[in-house]
Amino acid sequence: MAGNESAAAPGSARREQHWDPGRYQRNAGFVAALGAPLLDLLKPRAGEDILDLGCGDGALTIRLIELGAKVVPVDASAEQVAAARARGLDARVMDGQKLTFEAAFDGVLSNAALHWMPDADGVIAGVGRALRPGGRFVAEMGGHGNVGRVVAVLTAALARRGIDAAPLNPWYFPDEAEYRERLERAGFTVDSMALIPRPTPLPGDVRAWLETFGESFLSAVPPESMGALLDEVAEALRPDLLGEDGVWRVDYVRLRFHARKPA
Ligand code: BEZ
Repeated sequence: MAGNESAAAPGSARREQHWDPGRYQRNAGFVAALGAPLLDLLKPRAGEDILDLGCGDGALTIRLIELGAKVVPVDASAEQVAAARARGLDARVMDGQKLTFEAAFDGVLSNAALHWMPDADGVIAGVGRALRPGGRFVAEMGGHGNVGRVVAVLTAALARRGIDAAPLNPWYFPDEAEYRERLERAGFTVDSMALIPRPTPLPGDVRAWLETFGESFLSAVPPESMGALLDEVAEALRPDLLGEDGVWRVDYVRLRFHARKPA
């Protein structure tokens, strides 16, 4: 599942992430496939109204619908919403940091999207408004340390080119204490929360992963230098991320939680 499009903060050098649904399905189809634990945690009941926050191309939305839920899928990326609509879903373009729903849902599900939304309090406030009393907020996102090796190697490669990677980083990877505190401050009860290391096998090589997800970093180098940068980063990551079986595994760490709005 794709995250929401990352809106660059005013004055920062962070670039917008664009989603090419074809490339996403080739290089990131595993994202929805790995969403099963989230469905188990949400336990949607037939007929429940569920908001799929950051639905991407809608692959996980379809599984929610198969479980009997009535699902509204939203994503900030018009390209991903078009891909979801091509699957027959009534997906809408909406910024997850500015949700406009009022007491409309029994549950909000979000897979691999919240780390693209730096305004975490805006997200949580919008989810709180969107849920009915007693509604569940169930999500998985990148957590503290997520893709840490990739970020470190990219940062070093960009620094060798005189580029500071910090303001280019579009990702928000909180730890348990921070996100719990935000949820509780907004009135949620946290039923469960865990930080889960999950080295994740890629369908292709790490270059394709970087091209799919790392646009904000990569756009800082001119197109003619891109190949050399990708080669250098892949070479530096090879010892840690390429298995003897020839499979690249990215160092994902998930933050997964189940929270509830008071009844
Ligand atoms: C993630 O799902 O954790 C993730 C995906 C792409 C970039 C960064 C993180």
